Amino acid sequence: METKIIGHRGGVDGYPENTLASFKKAVELGADGVEFDVQLSKDGQIVVLHDELIDRTMSGTGLVKNYTLAELRAMSVSKNFGPEFKAEKIPTLQEVLTVVKDLEFINIELKNFLPYHNLEEKVLAVVAEFNLQAKTILSSFNHYSLQKIKKLQPEMRVGALLAAKLINPTDYAFKRGFDALHLNFLTADEEIVKKAHFMGLELNVYTVNHPTAMIELFERDIDHLITDNIELAFEMKNM
Ligand code: G3P
Ligand code: CA
Repeated sequence: METKIIGHRGGVDGYPENTLASFKKAVELGADGVEFDVQLSKDGQIVVLHDELIDRTMSGTGLVKNYTLAELRAMSVSKNFGPEFKAEKIPTLQEVLTVVKDLEFINIELKNFLPYHNLEEKVLAVVAEFNLQAKTILSSFNHYSLQKIKKLQPEMRVGALLAAKLINPTDYAFKRGFDALHLNFLTADEEIVKKAHFMGLELNVYTVNHPTAMIELFERDIDHLITDNIELAFEMKNM
């Protein structure tokens, strides 16, 4: 399969991550899909934000789980960006799916380290509400969370995020019934890619921002290349 280009947290250079502005721009740029992160607010709403702490990207301080959606909405979510993004607020999962639902691939990462009570059930319900099960993959570094998803809804595709190189990642994923490996790009060598495909696993790689790495990974026929720079990835793919 031809490698598809996926915008990481939106994946648009110069745009604040995980905002509706970045997802709209990713769609406009022709991204094949997007990746983004979900967590729960104090009142149980699914919000799209990467860090558990709001301090890096928002105009407040502390854990996202200690604020209600209304309280989070009162803050800015584009702290380090210019006035053109001032109106951006933390988006809900529903708002992001409304923007990206026509893309061919949607990767929702469950940031479930804390963990969040019933995050899996809530995400599955929203994906079903939008009827996006077929083109969605749920990923997480919390592999218990992925196993829970598989029990709740066996047909939902899940991808195991790995930060470091395991001895045998393909067997690890296969034995647990996962559908995909989401590897740090430094660990996605030719042997792993071939073995994953031989075993029927999808092989997706994050977060690829360097042109040389992009070219190498396109040559290895990985399935999805997750990048912060969709435009650069298309340039390298079409060279
Ligand atoms: O899903 C790939 C990548 O997003 C995982 O790392 O920290 O950027 O969420 P992180
Ligand atoms: Ca992520």
